[in-house]
Amino acid sequence: MIDLRSDTITKPTPAMREAMANAEVGDDVFGDDPTVNALEAYVAELLGKEEAVYMPSGTMTNQVALRVHTEPGDEIILESQAHIYYYEGGAPAALSGVMCRLIEGTKGIFTAQDLRSVLRPDNVHFAKTKLVCLENTHNRGGGSIFPLATIQEIALVCQEHNLKLHLDGARFWNACEATGISEAEYVQPFDTVSVCFSKGLGAPVGSALVGSKDLMQRARRFRKMFGGGMRQAGIIAAGALYALKHNRERLSEDRVNAKILAEGLSLIEDIKINPEDVQTNIVIFETENMPAPELAARLEEKGVALLAIGSNQLRAVTNLMVTQEQVEKVPSLVATALRDRTTPISIAAKSY
Ligand SMILES: Cc1ncc(COP(=O)(O)O)c(C=O)c1O
Repeated sequence: MIDLRSDTITKPTPAMREAMANAEVGDDVFGDDPTVNALEAYVAELLGKEEAVYMPSGTMTNQVALRVHTEPGDEIILESQAHIYYYEGGAPAALSGVMCRLIEGTKGIFTAQDLRSVLRPDNVHFAKTKLVCLENTHNRGGGSIFPLATIQEIALVCQEHNLKLHLDGARFWNACEATGISEAEYVQPFDTVSVCFSKGLGAPVGSALVGSKDLMQRARRFRKMFGGGMRQAGIIAAGALYALKHNRERLSEDRVNAKILAEGLSLIEDIKINPEDVQTNIVIFETENMPAPELAARLEEKGVALLAIGSNQLRAVTNLMVTQEQVEKVPSLVATALRDRTTPISIAAKSY
């Protein structure tokens, strides 16, 4: 199977498994796990922030960040397709009791002017706005990169209005690889940053929230409250540390493969995609004459897995389990699947 559903499907390599098997461990709730401590120190230094807190998932790091920056009844501002809003099970309302005010971006990206246009004066009628969240790269935006200059302008508006700024950086590593901007420079404007090790980097588990010592102290409290205090977590943290040290550079291969895929798909008559839009490892394309769930089902029969993310939209994510040679085969399999439209097929109508 050429599995392009997500970069989360990656499995640990033998070398990563060996690092995990040999990890020194302790009870991390007591702060005793040397491997977790090493991972947290490494991530904090890499991002140029004071402290990092290891957690089981990107959803948890994002949601802990929301809780750290807000109180129930507050408002947060984010892009309309942001993962925090779109894919985290309603957690902002359930776990932090906050309202989400949405900005319609372009491929997930919005500007300082867009932010200004939704800010409201301090008045008893309005919820108190506390936090702005950005996503880099943007998942539903097709792996789009948030330009650093735009982030800096948004951060100035946040400072003027006493708002905190959080980054959902599940695929932040891909943005750094594609732009050549250093991790620390890219996140300098943010108060908190969530990064994932279990996406393109290929670790089996884990994310980290990064920020000042004071904010991370508060984050540790909410991590425990949300059930994310782990014990001998060094076993999984070792996979994350290995991924961070060995798998960041190779993200360029995923970017190149995504471009190859997009260019191949753009030659198919019934497929709509502009290869110029593909900036990192996510390829979103539209099918004009076959519903997306049907095309996904037909491709699965041919050994290609990808996701229908709308009635006519599909997503493919290049990742370390898929070679260039495999990616090169996909466009012709898509073309064949489209030609098969008269053959009956049972479609489990899944759309993400
Ligand atoms: C942009 C973004 N943020 C957060 C997450 C959540 O990560 P997790 O699946 O580890 O909860 C994802 C997952 O794919 C994501 O794409």
